[in-house]
Amino acid sequence: MLKLNEDLLVNKGTNRACYKHPLEHNKCIKIDLIENNETKRELKYYKKLIKDNTSFKMISHYYGSIITNLGKAEVFELIKDYDGSVSKEIDQYMLDSSYSIEDIEEILKNISLLKKYLYENKIYVKDLNPVNVVFQKINTSTNRLVIIDGLAHSNYNPFFYKIDNLLLKKINNSWKDFINKLKNKQIIILNPKLQKYLF
Ligand SMILES: Nc1ncnc2c1ncn2[C@@H]1O[C@H](COP(=O)(O)OP(=O)(O)O)[C@@H](O)[C@H]1O
Ligand SMILES: [Mg+2]
Repeated sequence: MLKLNEDLLVNKGTNRACYKHPLEHNKCIKIDLIENNETKRELKYYKKLIKDNTSFKMISHYYGSIITNLGKAEVFELIKDYDGSVSKEIDQYMLDSSYSIEDIEEILKNISLLKKYLYENKIYVKDLNPVNVVFQKINTSTNRLVIIDGLAHSNYNPFFYKIDNLLLKKINNSWKDFINKLKNKQIIILNPKLQKYLF
């Protein structure tokens, strides 16, 4: 049984707490804080993506379940910057006034790549929002956006994934939602030139 403690805590979301894996530096462990079906729906979708051989270029990898002192948990890739710190959500960057417009621009330059990736691989992210996407600094000149949460298998219709139009419509809606959320951030409203990255 794996032992977790509060020193390993990375962050808490609405449903889950995320801890650093005590033994493997590139992994994190997520535990449900309240009873919910999101984790089950997420794992179902992860399994589908793995079965379909989908690229995980911009999604944190999933490594399976594990038992901890805090209960059953799920193991994922921990997204870290090259300096060793855990990568921050884009929302954190946008809310923190110590980052310059150029810093924010650096992040937004990746938005079109994320869009291309999701559409090309036909990945539907139910909760695509600035809190569920982190900005990873891979080295001084390379970075990427990574989705760390918000995937969920759809029970909407048994033919959902077979009918391209239906899936595309859902991807379109979640993408529009994501862009609108970004456009409503104070930093974007105050710097309209940044809007050119948001489409
Ligand atoms: N793979 C990861 N790499 C880095 N940080 C992460 C990762 N997964 C989660 N986190 C951090 O932990 C927070 C909560 O995890 P999350 O999976 O989003 O929980 P919830 O389902 O409750 O929203 C995230 O908002 C993020 O700050
Ligand atoms: Mg979350």
